[in-house]
Amino acid sequence: MRDNYALDAELYDIVYADYVDDIGFYVDEAVAADGHCLELGCGTGRVLLPVARAGVTVTGLDVSKPMLARLGRKVAALPDDIRSQVTVDHGDMRSFKLDPQFALIYVPFRAFLHLMQVSDQLDALRNIYRHLRPGGRLILNFFDPSLEYIVAHSGPIGGALHTTGESFIDPRTGRLLVEWATIQYSQHLQRIDQYYVYDEVDQRGRVVGRLYRNLQMRYIFRWEFEHLLARCGFELVALYGTFDRQPFIQSGQELIWVAQRPVAG
Ligand SMILES: C[S@@+](CC[C@H](N)C(=O)[O-])C[C@H]1O[C@@H](n2cnc3c(N)ncnc32)[C@H](O)[C@@H]1O
Repeated sequence: MRDNYALDAELYDIVYADYVDDIGFYVDEAVAADGHCLELGCGTGRVLLPVARAGVTVTGLDVSKPMLARLGRKVAALPDDIRSQVTVDHGDMRSFKLDPQFALIYVPFRAFLHLMQVSDQLDALRNIYRHLRPGGRLILNFFDPSLEYIVAHSGPIGGALHTTGESFIDPRTGRLLVEWATIQYSQHLQRIDQYYVYDEVDQRGRVVGRLYRNLQMRYIFRWEFEHLLARCGFELVALYGTFDRQPFIQSGQELIWVAQRPVAG
């Protein structure tokens, strides 16, 4: 499968350095699970490291070697007592095989949307189910697809290059990174192809370089995912729309799923 994150794992950390909205939620859920937790698509540890620092025994799994290499360096710098609770594995959420039956498996920050086919989604959900202890939970989040946004980014001019209004400082060079993007929705495939360009701007305002990032995702509708969960044997515990656990009540909110392997499952 294609590695969306191979290009620049450091760039990932620069772009998402300020995104912390979900971290407290996942830390609380991991502490409450009271057992070994597994993060699928753990990336460079944006969520996994705070979970570990909260005293949770956690395994992180990711398909991208560059992302894991960066995470490995961060784990190596942890104090001994925290580092000893963290395991990092290279693998695919559709096919990994690990020994423990986990109390919680969580998939933050829309990583599940990188599964591009229904067969991939089913393989991942069934594999997650097998790795949960009875009563163990699956928690994941992804965006609720907005029909207005999809229409705006479909068809011949849907993928036009535009500035996103976002910019970042690259700590490696001190230069400003000005973000541009094309976002193309293919409605019949429920697929999004995102292509990001970062203009590197020096202190004198000159564009002196470019960085690039690609992302492919398959968006999932609310009722579609309820059916997928049921098809794989999960019970739905909660569907939140916000990370402070308000129920999902309107489109445009995040879809935050809490499901469990039945106690007698
Ligand atoms: C949006 S990043 C999330 C990283 C991290 N969990 C966070 O919240 O910052 C998605 C991650 O999922 C990983 N990923 C994509 N498909 C995967 C798969 N089939 N199995 C395991 N990891 C996968 C990517 O390599 C990437 O690191």
